Amino acid sequence: MVIAIDGPAGSGKSTTAKNVAEKLGFIHINTGAMYRGIALKCIQEDVDMEDAAQLNHLLACTKFEFAAEGELALFMDGVDISSEITSVEVTDVVSQVSAISQVREKLVQYQRKMAEGLNVVLEGRDIGTVVFPNAHHKFFLVADIHERARRRKKEMEAKGEVVSLEELAEEMLERDRKDSTRKHSPLKKAEDAVEIDTTGISIEEQVNRIVEIVNKTIK
Ligand code: DC
Repeated sequence: MVIAIDGPAGSGKSTTAKNVAEKLGFIHINTGAMYRGIALKCIQEDVDMEDAAQLNHLLACTKFEFAAEGELALFMDGVDISSEITSVEVTDVVSQVSAISQVREKLVQYQRKMAEGLNVVLEGRDIGTVVFPNAHHKFFLVADIHERARRRKKEMEAKGEVVSLEELAEEMLERDRKDSTRKHSPLKKAEDAVEIDTTGISIEEQVNRIVEIVNKTIK
């Protein structure tokens, strides 16, 4: 069974997807982390994103694996990159990287393969529209921008990074704009997705709403 969870930055996708997967005993695949992984590798290897040959080579040589190291971690070419991919440097270029059709084609193929034959919760921007248009369940999370910025600030503070709420809100709105206006697979609610506004509701409530809907179809 495939459960698709899409939505803009800071809408609560990652925590919700992680908890839903845990409650149902499903695998959790964070597709945003994979786009961030490619962005990180472009920075590390000084790859010119406009150069199709360089990018093709990078994509062909990259392997991803989600594995549990206490928390679920993303390994790229055998190295745990979970912490590095949330850096400001990666966040700054990830929208640009994820708008490139070559990158999308390769990662979508990879995501479909990773999920093949399994019970999975996939989170991202295009899961219900492109990666798994026939997903058994589709959810689209939204939240007020001030709340989204507050959540991100809390996450960053936990890592010792200080950024103002205004800066975070601006960065998120800009990323939403880029993600939803790009030519390939823009961020968009699938027509048959259930929309959940997470403003002012607890993670537990978000998770329970989804689990209840899914459980009705399992039992
Ligand atoms: O979920 P996130 O903020 O970590 O995602 C990082 C970026 O990756 C986001 O700005 C858009 C892109 N992305 C995408 O284009 N398609 C996905 N399925 C997931 C993420």
